[in-house]
Amino acid sequence: MTDIDELRRQALEAVEATTTLDELDEARVRYVGRRSELALAQRGLGDLDPEERKERGKQLNAVRGAVEQALEERRSVLAQAALEARLADERLDLTLPPRRVPPGRPHLLTQVEEEIVDAFIGLGYRVAEGPEAESGAYNFDLLNIPPDHPTRTEMDTIYVEGYEDVVLRTHTSPVQTRVLTDQAPPVAVVVPGRVYRADTVDATHSPVFTQVEGLLVDTDITMAHLRGTLLELCRALFGAEREIRLRPSFFPFTEPSAEVDVSCGFCDAAQRGDAAGAADCRVCSGTGWIEILGAGMVDPNVLSACGIDPEVHSGFAFGIGVERVAMLRNGVADIRDFFDADARFLARF
Ligand code: PHE
Repeated sequence: MTDIDELRRQALEAVEATTTLDELDEARVRYVGRRSELALAQRGLGDLDPEERKERGKQLNAVRGAVEQALEERRSVLAQAALEARLADERLDLTLPPRRVPPGRPHLLTQVEEEIVDAFIGLGYRVAEGPEAESGAYNFDLLNIPPDHPTRTEMDTIYVEGYEDVVLRTHTSPVQTRVLTDQAPPVAVVVPGRVYRADTVDATHSPVFTQVEGLLVDTDITMAHLRGTLLELCRALFGAEREIRLRPSFFPFTEPSAEVDVSCGFCDAAQRGDAAGAADCRVCSGTGWIEILGAGMVDPNVLSACGIDPEVHSGFAFGIGVERVAMLRNGVADIRDFFDADARFLARF
């Protein structure tokens, strides 16, 4: 057999040379395993005479002890290195830029609609809704719009083919008559929804658009309540500094009726009363005012038609165009942008 010192030297060198735990295991089998030279030599001790056996046994034990200790030390070095390698390998580099997933958000029209609705919920109104395919009774008759009114022609109104007297509602006002025929005053509702008109598409017209209607009916409701409410709405939408003005107008379902203007926030003509100074303002064309909605006191004929006594109750109503508000406020020049679903447009708001 190899010289015992040589065996020891080889074994320790081999252990030291291992670079992985697998290699270390191979070295262990080879130098101290059951079929290693050392094990064979220890098993052969029995054939020696007692004196020699004792001496040789001691030497072999010493070699085994030294190799096993070297194995143990090497194991802990390699295990530590393996752990460090794994940690380094699995480390998350938090400085890497993540893949950008653009967050979704509500459409600008939905945002504006929700702002208007929220303003009225804050004032104690509840949300009411009605169908988009509506009967002429709710859309016209109960609203005091006579059968021969020009708005009822196919020039202006989209009729649903195959049905008697069913239209795509031309405004959200039919929800007024739905609520009033269904519920006794006091009534305070806000009504968001889509409406339809037989309009040709251009930069400011669309055959489908969005309105929010408001209706309040109680005892002793006056125009002053309407004015205060609309001022609140306009300031919620356009800013705390805005003023409003009411101009006489006409709607069959309100009397008196008004067009409501909000002061222009894009030029200071309103504050200065100086139209010439702001004549180039593209938003208000120098008037200092922007027409924003239609409103009025609920016509006594509408209350009566809905079974409410106009001697006891009074109320106001208004309807606001959501596209128009969004265009004015957010600088959208073309109403078609709302419906094109161009991601570059959508991402702006
Ligand atoms: N329905 C009217 C329109 O669409 C707006 C309006 C609503 C006017 C309520 C007065 C009262 O133009």
